[in-house]
Amino acid sequence: MKKGMNTLFSLCHLRNMSLASLKSVTSSLAKLAIDERFYISTPIFYVNAAPHIGHAYTSVLTDAMARYQKIKGKKVLYATGTDEHGLKIQQAATANNEDPKKYCDRISDQFKEAIQICECDYDDYIRTTEERHEKVVQKIWTILEEKGHIYKGSYEGWYCVSDEAFLTETQTKEVPGPDGKPIRVSADSGRPVELFREENYKFRLSAFQKDLLKWLENESVVKPVQFRGDVIAWLTKEELPDLSISRPIDRLKWGIPVPSDPSHSIYVWLDALFNYLTVAGYPDEPYVWPPNIQVIGKDILKFHAIYWPAFLIAAGFEPPKQLLVHCHWTVEGQKMSKSIGNVVNVVEAAERVSPTALRYFLLRQGVPGSDNDFSMMQLINVANSDLADNLGNLLQRCTGPAINVDQIAPSIFEADFHALGQEGTDLFNSLVQLPDKVSKRFDDFEFYMGLQSIMLTLKCANIVMQSKKPWELKKQNKMDDVYLILGACIETLRVVGIMMQPIVPSLSSKLLDRLNVDASQRTWNHAVFTEQVEKRPLGADQTILFKRIAEAQPTAAATNKPNVAANGPKKEKQEKGPSKKEKKEKKQSEKKARNAEALKEEKTGNEAEEKGGDKMVIETPEVLKK
Ligand code: MSP
Repeated sequence: MKKGMNTLFSLCHLRNMSLASLKSVTSSLAKLAIDERFYISTPIFYVNAAPHIGHAYTSVLTDAMARYQKIKGKKVLYATGTDEHGLKIQQAATANNEDPKKYCDRISDQFKEAIQICECDYDDYIRTTEERHEKVVQKIWTILEEKGHIYKGSYEGWYCVSDEAFLTETQTKEVPGPDGKPIRVSADSGRPVELFREENYKFRLSAFQKDLLKWLENESVVKPVQFRGDVIAWLTKEELPDLSISRPIDRLKWGIPVPSDPSHSIYVWLDALFNYLTVAGYPDEPYVWPPNIQVIGKDILKFHAIYWPAFLIAAGFEPPKQLLVHCHWTVEGQKMSKSIGNVVNVVEAAERVSPTALRYFLLRQGVPGSDNDFSMMQLINVANSDLADNLGNLLQRCTGPAINVDQIAPSIFEADFHALGQEGTDLFNSLVQLPDKVSKRFDDFEFYMGLQSIMLTLKCANIVMQSKKPWELKKQNKMDDVYLILGACIETLRVVGIMMQPIVPSLSSKLLDRLNVDASQRTWNHAVFTEQVEKRPLGADQTILFKRIAEAQPTAAATNKPNVAANGPKKEKQEKGPSKKEKKEKKQSEKKARNAEALKEEKTGNEAEEKGGDKMVIETPEVLKK
């Protein structure tokens, strides 16, 4: 901002401008606007299978950060899309008997739909088969070639089609195959590899070892910190081998041709990584660079923390400011896989529990630095407990016409909280500390910790409700006291509603509409306790904020097939009520959920001292049910 003001100041002092200098001023201003953009990206998704909850996680994590930055006043460029070239996709299209382009169109649309269903508000959806991208990749190839970073060589070694990765002997291992015979797989991903020898173009990756270590000197360049350590270890353990960056066209037809030699296709990772430059607007000037944050899963760290910055430095571009790495989701403790049949489809899951619940669970339960486990039953428990009970019920109690007869958000002052006794003071303290706590967490992608604090503040508000019982005060006609309680809780809900916009955007918007918070008053700066001098009327929509999700049938939870209860013979069984085995499964799953919750509470350290750490059962008084 300061930089902007200074530039503007100096621009204002220019007099008698020529047309040329006017043009240069305009382009400086454009550059200024571009510099201020906060550029964040997801990886682009392979179109070889339908979107699952792992993809949804990458997306909602990125979307939450993008929305958080937006309400903090940043102009954001949030990019996502699909990775459509390469052998893996070529083979998937062939297996489906489809023309590769048509196949990519179809699956790319599925990703777009899934991402939109998850309420991800991206600015650009890039497909690597688009002309704008193919041009960029060819241009970059030419730059690298002209700068002498590419030479013709040959490759003899292992290739993993599923990961589209060239692997050295030590990066592979032998394991027993399905028929018991040994097969060679990637040591990292466990996916099969094949041996080949071919002529291809190579990139002088070995020349960039020092530059990469320099880039990594900044501690925040790869986060969480353990992943930065991994990258440094890879770079210091042994010399980087040069990297093959093309495949003969007779082996890989489905790729971008090498501009200077059409008998070769460009290696799919070189192609895919430069999507980030295409969406930045390159080669038009000015373009948004470098990316502020690139969100990636741990499996693609090597490509993003070694190949990507090396390509960029070689071509004369700044590497990204930060890579945010997240771990993976397992399902009921197992890696998601087609053969196990436990892949959780995003669209089906969102239809079963609502996009809000799915998003909320992923962000509330997802810890980027460790693997996370998905279970439908746990999702339902968490969403019901936090969104229906802790948040929704509080709103209902504060705004229901049975108690809030005048349908207002009352005026409220600090002294009013203290007038409510110890519970009111506890709520006040929790509320005033909340913005700092949450922004520290959100800044670091620790949405789960921020949400933990938010939920604890809401619990304090529920404790005020529970102990002061406004429904009884109303019977005694003590309306001033009633509105004191409602005022404190509604102010809490206003602050929380603003903070939850990045997490559950449509639910927050409904909440803030009901509280009649003007659209201009929903920025992060407004998420702070503010004395409300004037009362204001509530918004008109009285419908329930978050409908409780019907409990998952244990069998459905165990298989994680959201619709399984609606299919065939199992339904008959469920109508008779759960079997012993199912009851046991349910108990176990609930125990697991409680343990996970307890573990998280423990991790929060000082927050555990705050009131209301235990799961609170919120009874709805009879008067409010009417
Ligand atoms: N196409 C490459 C990325 C190229 S970026 C220039 C790719 N695609 S992917 O579809 O396989 O994965 C996309 C993202 O989803 C990756 O960040 C990956 O880590 C993430 N996930 C895939 N499975 C996952 C889980 N089970 N859990 C969480 N995220 C996971 O890699």
